[in-house]
Amino acid sequence: MNNENLPRHIGIIMDGNGRWAAQRGLPRTQGHRAGVEAFERICEYAADIGIPYLTFYAFSTENWARPPEEVAAIMALFRRQLESTKLRQAENEQKRWRIRYIGDLREGGPVPPDILQLLREMEQSSAGMDRTVVNIAVNYGGRQEILGAARRLARLCAQGELGPDALTEQDMEAGLYTAGQPMPDLIIRPSGEQRLSNFLLWQCAYAEFWFSDVLWPDFTPAHLDEALAAYAARNRRFGEI
Ligand code: IPE
Ligand code: IPE
Ligand code: MG
Repeated sequence: MNNENLPRHIGIIMDGNGRWAAQRGLPRTQGHRAGVEAFERICEYAADIGIPYLTFYAFSTENWARPPEEVAAIMALFRRQLESTKLRQAENEQKRWRIRYIGDLREGGPVPPDILQLLREMEQSSAGMDRTVVNIAVNYGGRQEILGAARRLARLCAQGELGPDALTEQDMEAGLYTAGQPMPDLIIRPSGEQRLSNFLLWQCAYAEFWFSDVLWPDFTPAHLDEALAAYAARNRRFGEI
């Protein structure tokens, strides 16, 4: 594939874990576990082929409304995954993924404090990595992100540092979790759903979309190739002719 037609930033909505498990008569947690394996597989492949920015949707602000047992199981899985990754330092140095977490990850929020600590450690230990930036969205909501950026601007205006009438799109973007990164070129959603579910609302203004019926745990590099081929054939006009 022509490198020029590769997206610089891909967003992936990792959906369908529960249905994958249900199809096999397994508890939903097993689906989430298989979803983590798919994440590792796709991240590795995308980094190999030279995608510089990836954003994976792992847990939304709305996912807290699920039954408490499922939420607890997902949090336990995050914890286990973070702890085991932390121990595999040699592997991490080989992968050279720069991990960043996006979402409302403030102390005192709903994400358990020990997980917040592990997330911060992971970000710090990968801060010098240069191969691929991997954003993982946890307690993430696009509307909440935009609201946060608007609050920041309101504060700056109240302090007299910016004027309301002079505000620019760049000022807004400086307050998004993805500040400094390119906008996503391609959004991939498996599992048959064709919606954003509050993912990267501002950033998606000119993204291309690729939907598939495959459930996330079954997602393979061949599916990513399919998405990339479809993307490469698109004509992105950005309003021009
Ligand atoms: C995605 O899989 C994982 C999270 C949202 C945490 P789901 O758990 O939504 O799986 P389905 O959509 O019920 O199959
Ligand atoms: C979107 O999936 C969120 C994540 C994949 C983390 P959901 O399963 O929560 O989305 P809806 O409820 O089908 O829109
Ligand atoms: Mg779902």
